[in-house]
Amino acid sequence: MNPDKARSPDVRHRIPSTRLGREGPEITRLGLGTWAIGGPYEYGWGPVDDTASVRTVLRAVDRGLNWLDTAPAYGCGHSEEVVGKALRQLGTRERPLVFTKCGRVWDTAHPGKVVSDLRPESIRQECEASLKRLGVDRIDLYQIHRPDTRTGTPIEDSWATLAELVDEGKVRWIGLSNVDGELLDRCVAVRHVDSLQPSLSLLDRRSLPLLDRCRDHGTGVIAYSPLASGLLTGAFDRERVASLAPDDWRRKSAKFAEPELTRKLAVVDALRTIAGSLGHTVPELALAWVLSRPGVSGAIVGARLPGQIDGWAGAAAVTLSDGTLREIEAAAGS
Ligand SMILES: NC(=O)c1ccc[n+]([C@@H]2O[C@H](COP(=O)([O-])OP(=O)(O)OC[C@H]3O[C@@H](n4cnc5c(N)ncnc54)[C@H](OP(=O)(O)O)[C@@H]3O)[C@@H](O)[C@H]2O)c1
Repeated sequence: MNPDKARSPDVRHRIPSTRLGREGPEITRLGLGTWAIGGPYEYGWGPVDDTASVRTVLRAVDRGLNWLDTAPAYGCGHSEEVVGKALRQLGTRERPLVFTKCGRVWDTAHPGKVVSDLRPESIRQECEASLKRLGVDRIDLYQIHRPDTRTGTPIEDSWATLAELVDEGKVRWIGLSNVDGELLDRCVAVRHVDSLQPSLSLLDRRSLPLLDRCRDHGTGVIAYSPLASGLLTGAFDRERVASLAPDDWRRKSAKFAEPELTRKLAVVDALRTIAGSLGHTVPELALAWVLSRPGVSGAIVGARLPGQIDGWAGAAAVTLSDGTLREIEAAAGS
């Protein structure tokens, strides 16, 4: 039997799972990303419907995804508030693990504008605010969102603060995002790094060399933007890009503009052919490729409508043969 066609007959409540790094929690190989549901701000995705967003989070739980990734920066607190609202609606049902971040802040004088701040006192304030917005007693995974080159805070001081928050019971595990190997090593020297969150998709493979380093450190990897923020869903063409809301960040991103757009849409066309021949969808193929990278624990997939989750929730059960992986990589080019 073609291994690419060997799919679980019912993947609805059985998303495969793995341990996040050496000491982290057991996570399903797909988690829900909630950047897009944050609503308007500097990097917003256009208008959002909070009712649909809550339903989306609940659908992720129904489909068996056991973790959510959010951040205070997404909509200046709004994404965390919507996640908190969805968690309350779960009632007595087991809640998913909640992963959030610190290090990106805003003030009322500059509405919607987010800047870096990883000073220890700022991290502590952010942590309290996130706990409140999410309505939880403890954050499951607390991550540094991105390095802070603005305040001059050494990353060791910021990381030591996250370690203290673990000791104090405010958070359970701690991780990093958007760091290079040098910053990762500097943090490891202070305290074990439970996870790294890099960008990784067929259209952005720059973080691949970091994966071996993470394995050496026992650090789990959760890949962000695995669908290239929508490009790898197969739902994008030039008209769709042109009709994005004026305040959707993708409108001003080089990734969604020429000359990159033509090359990327050609990659998606080639993937569509491969996916079709195997009975998969383009997002399933794109996510299965990310999950096949050695060292990747899980992929954080964004959605803002419940039906979108149905389009890719089965991807974690897809196993791709070596031949198909080579074909996919050839299609994605260098
Ligand atoms: N640490 C960081 O700096 C960082 C940076 C980026 C992302 N992240 C995390 O990673 C998560 C995922 O990344 P991402 O949001 O950039 O995007 P992604 O997962 O690569 O793509 C998600 C987008 O694809 C579209 N989509 C999803 N399912 C679809 C389906 N079945 N059919 C058609 N379209 C579909 C939706 O966009 P439309 O609604 O427009 O169709 C959705 O918002 C984020 O939510 C966030 O949690 C972290």
